[in-house]
Amino acid sequence: ILVITLGSCLCAVGGIYTVIQTKARLTAEEWGENYFLVGPYVESNVRTQVELIEPTNPALKRAIDKMNSSGCKVYFGRWLIEGSPYVVLIDVAFTAWNLDKWKKELWDNFSIGVPWFDREANDAVLFGFLTAWLLGEVAQCEEPPHILAHFHEWLAGLGLALCRQRQLPVATIFTTHATLLGRYLCAGSVDFYNNLADFNVDKEAGDRQIYHRYCLERTAARCAHVFTTVSQITAVEAEHLLKRKPDIITPNGLNVKKFSAMHEFQNLHAQSKNRIQEFIRGHFYGHLDFNLDKCLFLFIAGRYEFSNKGADIFLEALARLNYLLRVNHSDVTVVAFFIMPARTNNFNVETLKGQAVRKQLWDTAQTVKERFGKKLYESLLVGQLPDVSKMLSKDDFTMMKRAIFATQRQCQPPICTHNMLEDSNDPILTCIRRIGLFNSSADRVKVIFHPEFLSSTSPLLPMDYEEFVRGCHLGVFPSYYEPWGYTPAECTVMGIPSISTNLSGFGCFMEEHIADPSAYGIYILDRRYRGVDESCNQLTSYLFQFCQQSRRARIIQRNRTERLSDLLDWRYLGRYYISARHMALAKAFPDTYFYQPHDSDTAQGFRYPRPASVPPSPSLSRHSSPRQSEAEEDDDRYDEDAEAEKDRLNIRQPLTLPSKKGPALPYTLPG
Ligand code: UDP
Ligand code: G6P
Repeated sequence: ILVITLGSCLCAVGGIYTVIQTKARLTAEEWGENYFLVGPYVESNVRTQVELIEPTNPALKRAIDKMNSSGCKVYFGRWLIEGSPYVVLIDVAFTAWNLDKWKKELWDNFSIGVPWFDREANDAVLFGFLTAWLLGEVAQCEEPPHILAHFHEWLAGLGLALCRQRQLPVATIFTTHATLLGRYLCAGSVDFYNNLADFNVDKEAGDRQIYHRYCLERTAARCAHVFTTVSQITAVEAEHLLKRKPDIITPNGLNVKKFSAMHEFQNLHAQSKNRIQEFIRGHFYGHLDFNLDKCLFLFIAGRYEFSNKGADIFLEALARLNYLLRVNHSDVTVVAFFIMPARTNNFNVETLKGQAVRKQLWDTAQTVKERFGKKLYESLLVGQLPDVSKMLSKDDFTMMKRAIFATQRQCQPPICTHNMLEDSNDPILTCIRRIGLFNSSADRVKVIFHPEFLSSTSPLLPMDYEEFVRGCHLGVFPSYYEPWGYTPAECTVMGIPSISTNLSGFGCFMEEHIADPSAYGIYILDRRYRGVDESCNQLTSYLFQFCQQSRRARIIQRNRTERLSDLLDWRYLGRYYISARHMALAKAFPDTYFYQPHDSDTAQGFRYPRPASVPPSPSLSRHSSPRQSEAEEDDDRYDEDAEAEKDRLNIRQPLTLPSKKGPALPYTLPG
C-alpha cells in the first residue's frame, strides 16, 4: 500500500499547516518508505525546508519521469521536519499552459466553471489535474500498489474527484478542516448555528462569489470513499452545507514533547516570561509605572478573522476587565497581545526605538557596574573598604542622566508594533479607538497588537511562537467559528491555561473528555446558548477570576493543564486517521480489505475526572481553578510533585497510547 497525503503541505498557513506537518511524523513511522506527501512547489519554501533527492519508490519514479518528459516539473525530496517524510512537489505554474484545456474538461465533466480572475482557484485546477495525472501514472505500473490518497481541503479536492471520474484504483479520503461557506457566512452578520439547516447553499455561495470554490469542495466531499472533518461541530456544518455527513471525525493532534525532569516546562515558562518582560521594559519605556512581577501576559493568535476568532469580544472583555481591576484597586497589570497577521509596512519607529532605549539603559548600567566593580576590587586589593561616595564619578552620573533623559517620550506606549497599511479601517485598531484602551498609565489592561506571526529573528521580539506561548499566562481564543483551533491545544501541551468556546472543535472535544475542564485550566466559554453580551460577561469574569489567582495557584493550574497533554498527542489521536484509512481501503478494494470498527477507534465514554485537590461539591467546583488564602499569596515554593502524585492516584491510567507501530490493524489482509 502506498499512502499519499495531498494538500498545500509546505506552503499552507495557520492550523492546516500544523496538522499536515505534525501528523507526518507518526504516519512516516507507521508507513515508512511507503508514505509520501504531495504538494505544490514553492521555491522559497523548498530551498529552506526540502532536501531534493532521486525518487525512492520505483512506481513513483517512473510516474515522475514520465510527467517530467511530458512538460511538467515534478520534484522529489525529503521534507526536513520531524519524521523526514518524502515529498513530491509539483510546479503548477510550469504547466499553466494547460489551464484552458483542463478548465474545459472540468466544465464538460463536472459543470464547474472557474473564472479567470480567481488565481487561487486556477491553481487548484492545475494542482488537481496534475495530482490525478500522477496517481494515474503510479496506478498504471506493472505491479501497481494499492494506493490510498488522503486529500486535505478544497484546494486539493479536485484531484480526488478526477480519480473517481477516471475510475482510478485509488482509495480516497477527503478531510475538510472547515467549510468554505461556513467561514464566509460566520464572518458576516448571520445567525449561523441557528440557521444551519435552512441556508440556500448555492445562492449563499453565489452571493459571495465563491460558487466555483464551493462546488470544488462539495464535489470532493461527495466523491470521496471516506469523508472526514476535524470536529463534531464541523461535522454538523458539513452535513448541512456540503450535504454529506462525515464518515468519521479525525481530530487534530500534536507531537507532545515529554521532558525527563517532571516540571521542566515550569522552568521554561519562567525563562520565556523573562524574555517577554524584557520586551515590555522596552515597549513601555518612560511609562514603566507598574510592577512587572505582578504583570500577567494574555494573548490571542491565529488567522486574522476579527469576529470569527472572537477578537471582538476579547477586546470588549478587556475593557470591562480594565474597569474591574481599576475599581478594585488591583495591583495586577494585564498585557494582552494580539498576534494576527495583517498587511503592514514593517515595524514602526516608536516600537523599535523602545527596544533601543532599553538596550541603551542596559549598556549604561553594565558600563557603570564595571567601573564600580573595578574600583571596589582595587580598594579591596589594598585592604580597604571602599569610600562609597567616591565609587561613582561625575562622568558616570552624566552618562546615567543622559540615559534617563532618553527615556522621556511625548506619546503613550504604542498599541501596534507595525505600520499598518489599512490603519484607519483595521478592525482591531478601530475597536481599540472606540473602547479607549490606549495604554495610558491609569489603565490596568494594556494592549499590544503584533500584526505578524512571531519569529526568533525579529529585531523587536526575537522569540518563536512556541517560546512566546510558554512565557504567557493565559491564551484567550473566544472564537465564534473555529472548526478545531490549534492555538488552545498548543497551550495545553505546553502547560499554559486557555479560554476557548463551545463553538470550537477543541472546546467541544475537551468538554467531552474532561469532567471539570476549568479545574485543568481549560475554560470553555458558552457562545452557543448565550448572546454576545452575556458571553462577553462570562469572558470578563473568567479573566477577572484568573487575575485574582496567586502565583502558587497559577503554578498548580499549569501542572494540571500539562497533565492533559496525552489526550492531544498524535500517538493517541492518530487512531482516527488509521480508521479512516482502513475504511477507505475496504470501500475501494472490497475483495482485499475488510473494515471492522475497533474498540480503540473511539474515545467515547472516556473522561478525565476532577483533580484530587478540587472539592467534589458542585457549588465549590464552580471556582475550581485553584485559589489560595492571602497568606499563601506569592509563595512559589509549591510542592509540585506532591500535587501531581495526588492527582495521579486519582486519574486511572488515563489513556492507552498505542505502541510506536500503532494499534493492531482492524482489517484482514488477502489470503
Ligand atoms: N502560529 C504560528 N506563529 C504565530 C502564531 C500562530 O505559527 O506567531 C500558528 C499556531 O502555532 C497554530 C496556527 O498558527 O498552529 C493557528 O492555528 P488555529 O487552528 O488556531 O487557527 P487558524 O489560523 O488555522 O484559523
Ligand atoms: C514557574 C517557575 C517558578 C516561577 C513561576 C512564575 O513555575 O518554576 O519559579 O515562580 O513559574 O509563575 P507566574 O505564573 O507568576 O509566571
